[in-house]
Amino acid sequence: MSNSPIRKCLFPAAGYGTRFLPATKATPKEMLPILTKPLIQYGVEEAVEAGITTMAVVTGRGKRAIEDHFDISYELEQQIKGTSKEHLLTEIRSLINKCTFSYTRQVEMKGLGHAILTGETLIGNEPFAVILADDLCDHNSSGVLQQMVELYKKHQCSIVAIEEVPKEETYKYGVIDGKEIEDGVFMISDMVEKPDPQDAPSNLAIIGRYILTPDIFGIISETKPGKGGEIQITDALLTQAKQGKVLAYRFKGKRFDCGSVDGFVEATNFFYNKSKG
Ligand code: UTP
Repeated sequence: MSNSPIRKCLFPAAGYGTRFLPATKATPKEMLPILTKPLIQYGVEEAVEAGITTMAVVTGRGKRAIEDHFDISYELEQQIKGTSKEHLLTEIRSLINKCTFSYTRQVEMKGLGHAILTGETLIGNEPFAVILADDLCDHNSSGVLQQMVELYKKHQCSIVAIEEVPKEETYKYGVIDGKEIEDGVFMISDMVEKPDPQDAPSNLAIIGRYILTPDIFGIISETKPGKGGEIQITDALLTQAKQGKVLAYRFKGKRFDCGSVDGFVEATNFFYNKSKG
């Protein structure tokens, strides 16, 4: 098992997206588009780039649009066949052909850790990747998940992606402490969920990309609710770090917090300019 490749990617997508109300009242946050592509499609493309073709999605009530997006719409295909718009469906059609998608529902929103545990039924006993689609990543060479998969091949342990954030923003993130063992790779010794700046062990914040070994499921199921009364993946990962090792990886690339209006607008402008450039 320890030498298993990363074959599956879990997308926790059950959250309510309250920062985007009313847009997210009947539309999943993950389906909000940056230009013409929904956030979750960018995530699936990043996973495919990392060599993963099995997608596992944790959804909730009101998230049916995600399943429909990764399915063929025969009427639509017929309608635009042979027209100048046919190419607009090429990318999504190719993802549908390449990948399998399976879904399970998180019935109660008890936090990201709980959402990941809900995905166990789709993942089983193997290491897996996690993408939070509202963290949209751009890069010049290889995607963030691909960078992490490469690191996993060497270390065979759980890995979280991190970036430096302004100290006054640590309250939005899980924040790590650790020793840099190679350029941009830290051995985690402590992790705190959403600390106030004065309590933050560093300014290295966890973003929405993880590689997790399957023992995390047992650890999450024993993890008590933490900050905000939610079962936090940060708390479970700290337990895993204390039992063995968990690495943090300062990825190469740029991340946009598309779960916030500011980050969403920034990403839209960035990708628009990139598309013109
Ligand atoms: P967020 O806290 O950013 O998402 O969770 P949210 O709760 O949907 O957004 P706001 O704060 O109300 O605007 C991070 C990720 O974890 C998932 C979310 O879907 C998001 O991708 N999540 C969170 C779950 O799947 N289940 C949960 O119980 C909590």
